[in-house]
Amino acid sequence: MSPAITPVAGRPGSRILSVGSYLPSRVVGNDEISALIDSSDQWIRERSGISERRRASADETVASMATEAATKAIARAGIDPSEISMVLVATVTHPFQTPAAATEVAFRVGAVNAAASDLGAACAGFCYAIGVADSLIRAGTSKYVLVIGAEKFSDFVSWSDRGTAFIFGDGAGAVLLGPSDIPRVGPVIWGADGGQIDVITMSQSWTDYRDNPGEHYPHLTMQGQTVFRWAISEVSKVTQRAIDAAGITSADLAAFVPHQANMRITDALVRTLKLPEHVVIARDIKTSGNTSAASIPLALDHLLEAGEVTSGGLALLVGFGAGLAFAAQVVEIP
Ligand code: COA
Repeated sequence: MSPAITPVAGRPGSRILSVGSYLPSRVVGNDEISALIDSSDQWIRERSGISERRRASADETVASMATEAATKAIARAGIDPSEISMVLVATVTHPFQTPAAATEVAFRVGAVNAAASDLGAACAGFCYAIGVADSLIRAGTSKYVLVIGAEKFSDFVSWSDRGTAFIFGDGAGAVLLGPSDIPRVGPVIWGADGGQIDVITMSQSWTDYRDNPGEHYPHLTMQGQTVFRWAISEVSKVTQRAIDAAGITSADLAAFVPHQANMRITDALVRTLKLPEHVVIARDIKTSGNTSAASIPLALDHLLEAGEVTSGGLALLVGFGAGLAFAAQVVEIP
């Protein structure tokens, strides 16, 4: 019989220590988009709740925006970057097959002792990464984990597609997680329905494009109404399960920070969950658009900066999107 392998000592829990975010400076209003897709400011506001979104410049990348957001989160946590043991970047718009954006980000923030990897779960990516980070810390595998959601969707949207061109924006949000004597990150409720991969997907694969180049390289396509119906019927169940798994009720929540997919989806989730009046609802989509994996930390940071939520309250997070992947958990606001 082989000798026993020494296990790593685990920890009781993890917590989010800090948040940071970054938005490119260029504001793209609805009129600019409407000119490209025969739409209007009024239609876009009514159907999505979006007034404007940000667009990265040519020299801004997923890794550079992630680095900006992460640098703020690290400074706010007061942790030396050399103490970070893992950097996870949730993204689906890093334009290199390899290496991972996280390796560049770890280098740029000075996380010289960190493992680094990307995580692809589309708009659920940030909550997936929080679930992984919490598990790594509780298992004793990592002490401090930097989790970043970063997207440059402007590179992967067709500006003539009426169903997507007005929705997506660019940006990044980051959190630093560390150990806690009492769990401050609740159990993650997550999953994916690969039977619905066609609902949000790329127009073609890179290899198909290589063999039959079309007018536009692979870009995002979406069956908007199917996504809408799925989000309202299934995502509300996932959020309720996350509340139950944390051992709390919705009355204990200070904030609801869903993925900023569409204001009407947020409104429907709030109605279905019957959230009490005092729960602050993140509505960052109005000015940031849908930034996929970046939307939840961006929204949380903006709520903190505006003083709409305070440290110590509980926030319900839920991410959902292509896959169709979803993940939700309750966390303490740093
Ligand atoms: N501007 C103006 N009119 C538009 C339009 C646009 N960008 N896109 C579609 N329309 C028109 C259509 O031509 C159609 O007109 P008609 O009734 O005269 O035929 C009408 O609006 C309805 O089209 P439809 O495609 O059914 O739009 P919709 O009501 O489903 O709204 C979305 C589109 C994308 C706003 C909606 O489906 C949605 O919010 N989906 C969820 C998307 C989402 O959250 N994705 C993120 C996932 S992470």
